[in-house]
Amino acid sequence: MAILPILVAPHPVLKTKCKPVDEVTPELAKLMDDMLETMYDAPGIGLAAPQVGVSKRILVIDVARQDEDPQPLKMANPEIIWESEELGVYEEGCLSFPEQYAEVQRPARVKVRYLDQNNEAQELDADGLLATCIQHEMDHLEGIVFVDHLSTLKRNMILRKMKKALKQKAA
Ligand code: NI
Repeated sequence: MAILPILVAPHPVLKTKCKPVDEVTPELAKLMDDMLETMYDAPGIGLAAPQVGVSKRILVIDVARQDEDPQPLKMANPEIIWESEELGVYEEGCLSFPEQYAEVQRPARVKVRYLDQNNEAQELDADGLLATCIQHEMDHLEGIVFVDHLSTLKRNMILRKMKKALKQKAA
């Protein structure tokens, strides 16, 4: 396994809609493992392929608490096939927006269909943090980032901070 560099916003790949995969080949299964290792190392609870520069519909998630066993999820071509009318709010962050957090409202429960690491079709009912995380990572596959859900004022505030950090890093 390998730790991959994570792209930080603003970056054009993070705004690009990703292509579905034809099947989960051994190469893509390895990419999933590398993404998971990269996510654990960061550390984070979710990572989408465009965040490591790959415009494919692939994501990995593990929302297990530190005192729990790992619960890694690896998904290709995820689709939300049902979502609750009830909404939930979480303070979200993103590995492509270091140190930036904001509350985002999303459906509280979702049912998702996807291909697993062995190219087998799976369905999963998710609620709470897992439901939020799945929707956040799936947004990435559409070129949508969590700040796109915020008011213009809040979004611009975060983007300004990101640009400032980028300049400081370059200086
Ligand atoms: Ni993210």
